[in-house]
Amino acid sequence: MLSDLSELPQRKASGTKVSVLTAGDYPTARLLDEAGIDLILVGDSLGMVIHGLPDTTGVTMEMMVLHTAAVCRGVKRAPVIADLPFASYRTPEEAVANSKRLMDCGAAAVKLEGGVAMLPQVKAIIAAGIPFVGHIGMLPQSVKEEGGYKKKGKTSEQIDLLIADARALDEAGAVAIVLESMVADVATEITRLVHASTIGIGAGVGTDGQVLVTHDLLGSFPWFRPSFAKARADLAAETLRAAREYIETVRSPA
Ligand code: KIV
Repeated sequence: MLSDLSELPQRKASGTKVSVLTAGDYPTARLLDEAGIDLILVGDSLGMVIHGLPDTTGVTMEMMVLHTAAVCRGVKRAPVIADLPFASYRTPEEAVANSKRLMDCGAAAVKLEGGVAMLPQVKAIIAAGIPFVGHIGMLPQSVKEEGGYKKKGKTSEQIDLLIADARALDEAGAVAIVLESMVADVATEITRLVHASTIGIGAGVGTDGQVLVTHDLLGSFPWFRPSFAKARADLAAETLRAAREYIETVRSPA
């Protein structure tokens, strides 16, 4: 179990994979921490699975601050990574100011989406002494420009861009890089090339670790689950069962 981000390089060297799950609330964070998860991500996917938004572009800093604070109150050990939401890092100054707000909630690092194009922001965050996690590949905050969620790394041009992004973030000093929805061989190659720990989602098994949205793991958001996300519980069915049992008991008390 990790208790500090500084343990990541040793994990990479040893080949012991890093487990990461998302949380947006106190009980989930506390349970994941007690279960021994390595890292907890307050991902902006919470906009979809908690707030019911159609994508992550409607998530605000105010939402991320509230959720990050709730998660950090529940965690005793696991380092917490907090997402900078859409339009919260348009300039290096804005990126640093908003990263500080998330760190003040108790986060151990911040994450933003993008590679070479975001280097000024990334360098400013790291220069401010804030541990940084990158995120490349399919970028949910760019879903509108991209016209949907598209797997990356299918053409040699895309592969070159992904490798350039990963190298740029690595050289800037990212402690970890999320590789989302990309061809597995490309994710494995990036993992070999960079010092940072790679955390994959829909990117095969060759990364240094894996991240999953906890609602997908628990089956608590049954209306959509990506094909790569294996549900290991069915909380939607259990919620319906318990609620229906309660309704029956209230209507017909014994
Ligand atoms: O917001 C999120 O949950 C994420 C993961 C999908 C990596 O960024």
